[in-house]
Amino acid sequence: MSKLIISLALSALIFNVRAAEGPGHAAIASAHPLATRAGFEVLEQGGNAFDAAVAVSAALAVVEPQSSGIGGGGFWLLRRASDGKTVMLDGRETAPSEARPDMYLDEYGEPRAQASLVGAFAAGVPGLPAALVHLSKHYGRLPLQKTLAPAIALAESGFEAGERYIKAAAAHQAELKQSPAAAVIFLDQGKAPAPGFRLLQKDLAETLKRIAKQGGDGFYRGQTAAMLLQGVRDGGGIWQDKDLQNYRVQERTPVSGEYRGIRVISAAPPSSGGAVLLEALNILSGFRLLPDDPLGSKHVIIEAERRAYHDRDLYLGDPGFVHIPLTRLLSPDYAAGLRASIRLDRALPSEMLSTSAVQSHQGDNTTHFSIIDRYGDLVTATLSINSVFGSCFVAAGSGVLLNDEMDDFAVAPGRPNSYGLVGGNANAIAPGKRMLSSMTPTILETQDRIALLGTPGGSRIVSMVLLGVLDFAQGHGPESWVSIQRYHHQYLPDVVEYEPGALNDEEVQGLSRLGHRFKQTAKPYGDMQAVLWDKKKNQLSAASDPRGEGVAEVR
Ligand code: GLY
Repeated sequence: MSKLIISLALSALIFNVRAAEGPGHAAIASAHPLATRAGFEVLEQGGNAFDAAVAVSAALAVVEPQSSGIGGGGFWLLRRASDGKTVMLDGRETAPSEARPDMYLDEYGEPRAQASLVGAFAAGVPGLPAALVHLSKHYGRLPLQKTLAPAIALAESGFEAGERYIKAAAAHQAELKQSPAAAVIFLDQGKAPAPGFRLLQKDLAETLKRIAKQGGDGFYRGQTAAMLLQGVRDGGGIWQDKDLQNYRVQERTPVSGEYRGIRVISAAPPSSGGAVLLEALNILSGFRLLPDDPLGSKHVIIEAERRAYHDRDLYLGDPGFVHIPLTRLLSPDYAAGLRASIRLDRALPSEMLSTSAVQSHQGDNTTHFSIIDRYGDLVTATLSINSVFGSCFVAAGSGVLLNDEMDDFAVAPGRPNSYGLVGGNANAIAPGKRMLSSMTPTILETQDRIALLGTPGGSRIVSMVLLGVLDFAQGHGPESWVSIQRYHHQYLPDVVEYEPGALNDEEVQGLSRLGHRFKQTAKPYGDMQAVLWDKKKNQLSAASDPRGEGVAEVR
């Protein structure tokens, strides 16, 4: 079912005035109807897109706790209309100060099962609370008491959990039971909740109130910090006071480039998203992607992804710890060299780039939203706690579900993580370091159109955004980008994953003859949230992925 709503076209006269100032309306697309509603509530109180972003981020933490939360982190890509400032807020988690490169390995150097995935030992130091405080203080108009109010009300009064939550809780009940504080909140008397379950999060409401009142100190110091530290240490984790107190949000310059006249602005390291996206687009800019040759287009898109994801694994990590040759990776000349290695009649086996065979699985984790306000302020943000329900661990009394983002490090360099991504030393664990991400909040801009898009989906995030950008380049709108059927290659494992229906038999056979191997996913994947401002028509449109339960609205 379509989740697209388009604003009424405005008169030409109004268009001329407003086009210079902003669209005059606002659009929000988020992964949950209650989060979209929270964003509009704040806009209606005089807030701007940044205030709405605080409200939507916090509401998602409450209503979609399996996907993101204040125990996790994220990247917020912003543009302020008044001065054009474009920046990425990096609220990515950091490794605790006692973290060591081999902390998840046994005495034989093998990764210990689940150690980086379940329980307090798997959790990085959360960045989301600090990012919301920063966003509010430096970009918003309203106090946190107002912007966090919708999330606090949802946590305190509860809400009826949706189908996605019910399925996620059923699938993770064994892990949630390992943390009594998590089980009490997210299960129904120790059992998988049934449809109609009302999710109440009173402790989380109190923690959000402390953040609303005290800012960062409401989480990183005082009562909340004490509960988090006690709970984490009791649960076998290694956090220290200073890890919480020293957490800092970073403002980073996004990565940017051009693709067929489109300005592409995207997430900078420690996300790999923007670099992989731009490298793939640079490679593809030398090919004609013809609608009447879907097989040929898909072949070169897959080959571009293979090469860009290979560089992810080789070079990308936290720029505060490793030198990333970003200028080279984003250079059209470098892409030309990679393009020259693509044969139109044959797939390159990934083992020609490196050797290893790995498996991957992707869950319904992470979340995304996009907002444009009436002034033309933009926010597109991807937030995560990594796996579904993160580490499945709650520190008693805090209501905070902790991430298991430590698994996004190369836990054992050269070995795959839960997404099948193989990292190298650039993404090895070190104290205070940010783990490499795939989150890819992206702004696209031409003279006439501004688009915001992004999605959850682990390592498949970048290929989903890539397909969205290519569709934007064809002139299509948000409903098309979010609905497009998806396929993906990430260098290793050397297999094209595709959701049911994304490739027809003829395409699978034709691409197999070129040497590609295939794996159909068990179900559709992704949950893209996108908005478009068509400046020429002064029209806003927004769309929420039909695979999810989100709502996109223009008001
Ligand atoms: N935890 C998923 C990501 O950051 O890519």
